[in-house]
Amino acid sequence: MKFERSDLLGIEDLTRDEIGAILEATDSFAEISERPIKKVPVLRGLTVVNLFFEPSTRTRTSFELAEKRLSADMVNIAASTSATVKGETLKDTARNIEAMSIDMLVVRHSASGAPRFLAEVLACPVVNAGDGAHEHPTQALLDMYTVRKKVGKLDGLHVGIVGDILHSRVARSNIWGFTKMGARVTVCGPATLIPPGIETLGAAVTTDLDGLIPELDILMLLRIQTERLSQCFFPSLREYAEIFGVDSARMARARKDVIVMHPGPLNRGVEITPDVADGPNSVILEQVKYGVAVRMAVLYLLSGGERTSEDTH
Ligand code: CP
Repeated sequence: MKFERSDLLGIEDLTRDEIGAILEATDSFAEISERPIKKVPVLRGLTVVNLFFEPSTRTRTSFELAEKRLSADMVNIAASTSATVKGETLKDTARNIEAMSIDMLVVRHSASGAPRFLAEVLACPVVNAGDGAHEHPTQALLDMYTVRKKVGKLDGLHVGIVGDILHSRVARSNIWGFTKMGARVTVCGPATLIPPGIETLGAAVTTDLDGLIPELDILMLLRIQTERLSQCFFPSLREYAEIFGVDSARMARARKDVIVMHPGPLNRGVEITPDVADGPNSVILEQVKYGVAVRMAVLYLLSGGERTSEDTH
């Protein structure tokens, strides 16, 4: 199918067919990162700006590598070095950047809705690289791509998302994504970190991790977002780890082939112990690896998807 959208703002907006189209396009870009010369002229002549108002290791590096491998000209702007620290509004900053004839803007912001706001005021495509506790669409796409690579399908799988659901844009995007693709999603964590009404997104809810684990095909762990905690949601990280952390004893309750995922950054010893994070069921680094190909596919599709077969050689 032809991908008709001009922005990628969230998974909630996408149809099952559109998600499928991005995952299919990713297949052709994944191979490029395996070549000795990892560069194709798909976005040659286009300029992409990565505007990050929050810290990032994986997403920013991944977008940067995707842009470079597609031969785009790219510029990184961090909030601390932008004129927003002098009082300039987000809208003015973005419009000034666009005035320099850019072709695409990738934005991460602590405010939910910031990428959608920018998509309304800018003519160029906008990609959401994570907005507050709202959505992180490319993370969910790379998570779905990783599972599809490992299992061969998404339909019919049971995905458990465990941790700080309340503050997690990854949880929201993955609930939308996996349920649209036919999987069942259950969220699990302390009751204080599960937002009321999350069931309306299509997820089941439990606080019983030991009861949930044996049921799962996919065990996705999330960190406690201490930077977003405005109050005391649980007595201590030690108690959290005891009740909701996954260690080898809890893994013994899981299916032998359960897939362990984490979007990063990890808090080793809190939501996951090192032996599980680095163990045989973990696909955490594969998630990071496929993130580059997913972002190449997204940038390509939003640029109009006019690639010819020559462009990938
Ligand atoms: N998964 C993720 O968004 O990681 P970063 O914050 O390092 O980009």
